[in-house]
Formats: sequence, structure tokens, C-alpha cells
Amino acid sequence: MNQIRYWTERRFVREPDAIASKLGWNEKADKWAEFVRVCGPHYVEPVLERLSELTRERVTLTRLIDVGCGEGSLLRKLAKDVPGYCTLWGIDKAHRLIEMAKFLTHEPRIRYAVEDVEGALGEVKARTQGPPSKGEIAIRERLADKYEGDFDVVLCIQTLTSIANIRAAFRWAEAALKPGGILLATVTHPMRVYAELIESGESLPPYQQSFPYVLRLSWQVCGINGSLEVLNYHHATAEYIAAARECNLTVLDVREVGHKKTLPLGVVPEYMMFTAVKRRV
Ligand SMILES: C[S@@+](CC[C@H](N)C(=O)[O-])C[C@H]1O[C@@H](n2cnc3c(N)ncnc32)[C@H](O)[C@@H]1O
Repeated sequence: MNQIRYWTERRFVREPDAIASKLGWNEKADKWAEFVRVCGPHYVEPVLERLSELTRERVTLTRLIDVGCGEGSLLRKLAKDVPGYCTLWGIDKAHRLIEMAKFLTHEPRIRYAVEDVEGALGEVKARTQGPPSKGEIAIRERLADKYEGDFDVVLCIQTLTSIANIRAAFRWAEAALKPGGILLATVTHPMRVYAELIESGESLPPYQQSFPYVLRLSWQVCGINGSLEVLNYHHATAEYIAAARECNLTVLDVREVGHKKTLPLGVVPEYMMFTAVKRRV
């Protein structure tokens, strides 16, 4: 039997802009779909579990949006679990992935749109208190109009690592949420990144050696019978929490998920999962 082997290799990035411009998600769409087919269930399960906990304990789920939904596999799985009255939206910057998602989805409750969450709010200043600015109000109105209302839950699964300006993404999520609504996000766990760097034979630069949670950028090459190159932005846990707080979101908890022995180096958590709530002001 042909065994499908997933491998991953990580390098520090020396010219991030040059790499980023060459590696658009539209060009990677086919390889990404193949990656998700093989590895998707592994990282989607903890998200579904956490979501069902949250819907039991904290939030009534009538409207959910998946930011950076890729080819839509999480939404299709979710549609099997959540009640029929719930509306599910998927958005992604890459039109090729949205076309693929539409093609693969036969569930009328799931809708898709092309959206760049970083571009949309990049220029609007963060606000921790006081009334919203004109720019913010205009964006909220545009979102409510485009998506026919606001959301109980915003998912951001392995998307923040593709986004340089995480504050813009958090502001977008906050604008799209109802007060009391939940943002559930995952990023690759910093220890996983380190383990992969070490196994790739990279020597850590001195400024990374003392405190491993501040890695900025890495270039990940992974493959399933082929290769997929991804430029990842990494932030320290405290930075994610601070950025969320600046955007009117309170982080309720941070969990380490996906402890699997997938690396020769041993068992390291694969993902870090954040749950944040939009404050009621
Ligand atoms: C690593 S993939 C994760 C896809 C999907 N969430 C999953 O878990 O399978 C990152 C996704 O984020 C999307 N993305 C990157 N930057 C984005 C942005 N500024 N706005 C919306 N989507 C973005 C990419 O196109 C890509 O589909």
C-alpha cells in the first residue's frame, strides 16, 4: 500500500517580502486542498470540540463566520453538527480557494465571499474605549450589509500566521461580532515551530535563544507527495493577548492542543488555541 507521508521543514526567513510576493495563496490553492485532505482532520477536531463546549456554556450559535476558510472543509464538517437554523459564512482573501470552496459545498446554509481582513481595517485606529470613529462605523455598516448581520462566533483557524498585521485582523473580527460574541483562533504552537527549526538543522540566532516565544517569521515547507511553501508570521502569546485587548476583545483562555508525536524530537503541542470575547461597552 502506498503510504502518504507528511513532512515539514522550517527555516528562518531572511527576505520575507520577496518570499511573500512569490507565494500567494491563489497559486497554492491546489496544494493546500491536498494538504487539508490529509492533515485537516487532525487540526479540525480540537476546534469542533471547543466550539461545542462554547455553544453549551456561553454562546447561542445562530451565525458563524470562518475567516481564512480556505477550501471550506471546516464549514462543511461544522454544518453536519450545528442545527439547521445556523447560518455559516466562509471568507478568504484568495479567490481561487473561494471558488474551490463553492464548488465543493452542497449545503445551502454555507455562503462564501472573497475578503481581505487585513486590508479592510488596516487603516482604522484601534480603540480600547470611547465611541467608535467614523471609519469604524462605516466598516461595521459595510460588514453588516455584506453579511446580512453580525456574528455570534468568528473562527480564525491557522489564518493569523498568514497575516502580518494581527491587529487589523482582530479589529475586523471585533467589528463583525455581536457584543458578547466569541473569537476562536488557532496558531501553530511556538514550541512546535522551534522543534521543527531544530530538526531542520537551523541554529537559533542569539536573540531567539533565551526566550523562545518571540519568533517573528518562518518559511515552512511541508509536503504530501509534493511540496507546499508557506510563509508564517509568529507572535508571542502575550502579543496576541495584548493585540486582542486593544481591539475590545478579552482573551478568556489559551489552550495547547494537538499533542501528537509527529516529530522525531518528541511530543510537542501543535497548536495554540485562543478564545476571546467581545466586550460589551
Ligand atoms: C494556513 S491557511 C488556513 C485555511 C483554513 N483556515 C484551514 O484551517 O484549513 C491560511 C488561509 O488564510 C487566508 N488568508 C491569508 N491572509 C488573509 C487575509 N488577509 N484575509 C482573509 N484570508 C486570508 C489564506 O488565503 C488561506 O486560505
